[in-house]
Amino acid sequence: MGFTHSGSDGTGWTDSPDDEATLAQLVAAIGAQQARLANSSHTGLNGQVDRAQHQKQVLGAFATLRIANEIPESARLGPFARSNASYRVSCRISNGQPCPQADTASDVRGIAIKFFTDQDVETDLLMTNEGGRSHARNAVQFMAVADIIVASLAEGPKSGLTTGLRELITEKLGLIEGLRVLKILLEETKLHYVDSVTTEHYWGSVVQLGQAAIKYSLHPHETTEPGTDADRHADDYLRADLLNRLKDGPVKWRLGVQLFVDENSTPINDASIEWKADVVTVGELEIASAPSGEDEARINQLAFNPANGFSPLGITHARKDVYAASAANRKDRGVLTSEEARALLKSR
Ligand code: HEM
Repeated sequence: MGFTHSGSDGTGWTDSPDDEATLAQLVAAIGAQQARLANSSHTGLNGQVDRAQHQKQVLGAFATLRIANEIPESARLGPFARSNASYRVSCRISNGQPCPQADTASDVRGIAIKFFTDQDVETDLLMTNEGGRSHARNAVQFMAVADIIVASLAEGPKSGLTTGLRELITEKLGLIEGLRVLKILLEETKLHYVDSVTTEHYWGSVVQLGQAAIKYSLHPHETTEPGTDADRHADDYLRADLLNRLKDGPVKWRLGVQLFVDENSTPINDASIEWKADVVTVGELEIASAPSGEDEARINQLAFNPANGFSPLGITHARKDVYAASAANRKDRGVLTSEEARALLKSR
């Protein structure tokens, strides 16, 4: 059943979360995908379960999140409550696929940030560069597409699946929905060439902040140089680009927030539609220097969850349960608890 919240400034939304049975199916599906990937000889995971998405860490670094000094009242809450606050954060930059692949392969790119607020609330921001929307309308559709991609990766390059992705997706979702999903994936991965993760825009999915429904996002900082000095044909060129930039100085992004307007321009329950609303600047993210190998290894063991620090809305309800399951399933590789993550951040 939907829940309506009325008012202004980001309120007035109606949330229709998935039911318990659907959530349980999604949790089971992510476990099956992780096991299938781990047990395949084509995925490079050596039999051990890893993240069900975003397996390859491009860079893991400690960073600083500075909250802006003027924030609109409706967003001046939770992590954005204190003007000019400065938080130590951990930042994991990743490729979207569930097993290691060259940076030159078509993919989405993600940034996950974890920090603890003044009130000691564990807060995670997770964003991808899919143009402010997902290829999937909802979590069931997301998982159906992931099932097909996972099968193709697990079967390996010679499987009939690799050439038949289009057919399998349209068969599973129907012709119109299947083609819509494929068009977004094509536009945001294969046709969207990424010079550098610092020149990309990233968005999260919808969450609740106070009474408002919001989407947060990261945008290139005004000081960011376009292009790249890295060798674009190298397997790890995105990492090389970041390390080259960090030799010259800090890399930065602008953190923004959009507030819900109405179901047409800023839908809560359809994640495939880009929000048409102003992006208000709420902060700045800065990685000051290249991380040590040890820091990167610890950051790779963090478990991020888009429901940490916010109440989930729309597709984020399912993400809350599925990320927790994915992290629990990969515990044999070492996953830091919230207490360990807090201690790690305090030490940096
Ligand atoms: C719609 C917008 C979405 C965004 C912006 C997003 C973003 C991200 C990012 C940035 C990560 C990497 C986290 C890390 O570095 O550890 C990630 C991981 C992951 N995502 Fe998503 N994602 C989205 C949708 C979904 C959906 C709908 C599902 C499934 C229901 C999903 C399942 C996962 C899983 C299982 C992981 C790995 C979690 C772990 O093992 O720690 N994502 N996502």
